[in-house]
Amino acid sequence: MRIVPATILLAAIAAPAQAQDGKALFDSVCAACHQAGGVGNPGIAPPLNDAALWQRLGERAPGYVAGVMTSGLSGMIQSGGQVYAGLVMPPQPMSDEELAAIGSYLLGTINQTGQAIDPALIAKTREAPPSHSALQKLRKGS
Ligand code: HEC
Repeated sequence: MRIVPATILLAAIAAPAQAQDGKALFDSVCAACHQAGGVGNPGIAPPLNDAALWQRLGERAPGYVAGVMTSGLSGMIQSGGQVYAGLVMPPQPMSDEELAAIGSYLLGTINQTGQAIDPALIAKTREAPPSHSALQKLRKGS
């Protein structure tokens, strides 16, 4: 039997729960459809490195990302000159902390918007999940 020093065990237990790795989570979950770096998969899932989209959404971007991750999304999307129709993004069954880390990676790192997503925003969004049509409206900027 190996003897593990108590200090190492304590360090493992005390590891902060909020230290979620947004990139690792994105790569293992979202990239299955959106590809690494969110470059998209034509005809299957739209690109998420869409500077024009994030610029248009401005300060509403974190709410939009939180809404899409928690409610999913369906309906036609035009993105990068491609039409994505008849596709459904399923709601993502992960914790508030995990979704916040993913959203922060998406906005702050991939898109460099200077924005981050707080777990509290995910929790608030879950309380009143936006409909897909509300998200589509928000996306169109109305
Ligand atoms: C099973 C495939 C799939 C997975 C997994 C997935 N998505 Fe999606 N996502 C889609 C599809 C398909 C759409 C477009 C839905 C539509 O046409 O209405 C989409 C749309 C989006 C949009 C809106 C893009 C836009 O141009 O408005 C965002 C943001 C997004 N996804 C983020 C994520 C994030 C973050 C994750 C990981 C937590 C994720 N997605 C996981 C398939 C997926």
